[in-house]
Amino acid sequence: MYINLLVEKTDGITLITMNRPKALNALNIETLDELNSALREAHWDNETKAIIITGGGEKAFVAGADISQLSGLTILEGRAMAMLAQKVFSYIEEIDKPVIAAVNGYALGGGCELAMACDIRIVSVKAKFGQPEVNLGIIPCFGGTQRLPRLIGKGRAKYFIFTGEMISAEEAYRIGLADKLAEADNLLDESIKTAKLIMSKAPVAIKMAKHAINVGMNVDLASGISYEAEAYTTTLSTEDKVEGMKAFIEKRSPDFKGK
Ligand code: CAA
Repeated sequence: MYINLLVEKTDGITLITMNRPKALNALNIETLDELNSALREAHWDNETKAIIITGGGEKAFVAGADISQLSGLTILEGRAMAMLAQKVFSYIEEIDKPVIAAVNGYALGGGCELAMACDIRIVSVKAKFGQPEVNLGIIPCFGGTQRLPRLIGKGRAKYFIFTGEMISAEEAYRIGLADKLAEADNLLDESIKTAKLIMSKAPVAIKMAKHAINVGMNVDLASGISYEAEAYTTTLSTEDKVEGMKAFIEKRSPDFKGK
């Protein structure tokens, strides 16, 4: 069904593999369109409770926007491509389900930006991160100038983007770009394990927590706290809240229904 992606669904998890290994999974317009469709499908699929995005092949998660394609675009086409990617990546933040980036190798430029748009980054010790756009005479344009400072702080983001330096998985973990490290051959298992752990919690609570955190990062503290109160109030009206508290009192595991 897809040319540049593999999409598999197992045990409530949709695994999306960026699959252009010969080009280190570089993002061209066609791949961005396919990613948009795959995410939309996973969003509306009732069986999908979590999404994992990873890279095909041994070397790369995603090595950035497709430079071959980018170099042939007009200014307006280049702008349209950036806006398409921005829209797709922002959609990842809007999806009501946890989205995990399983970063298996190079996450450069648009690849780093894709990983940053995901909720959680689980990272192989072999992965490398970078925003090397300045080497090409451009700047990050798939959300990198905005998401990177929100994740690692303004100074470090400027250092990273101004120098184009590539950093190791360990360094990414140290500065908060990676959330968890895994051995290369254990990356997918670790990502699935994390997805299943999250899936065992109350789904509406996860959804509300995701939105409260995402909204809060883009508004002032008072507005964020006010949004949190509303998101919390939504969880109070769920059957899962009744079940979660009842299970605690009865000293048993909760059986959440996502209602
Ligand atoms: N676009 C298109 N093709 C790419 C690519 C990219 N971003 N990255 C790698 N490839 C291709 C290479 O051209 C090469 O193709 P051929 O075999 O046909 O020559 C193949 O993938 C393998 O790459 P290398 O031979 O270069 O592999 P390497 O191990 O020597 O180096 C690398 C790996 C360091 C990741 C190097 O490929 C590289 O620097 N890639 C470009 C990274 C980059 O600059 N990314 C930013 C792109 S711009 C962007 O993303 C803007 C934005 O904000 C969205």
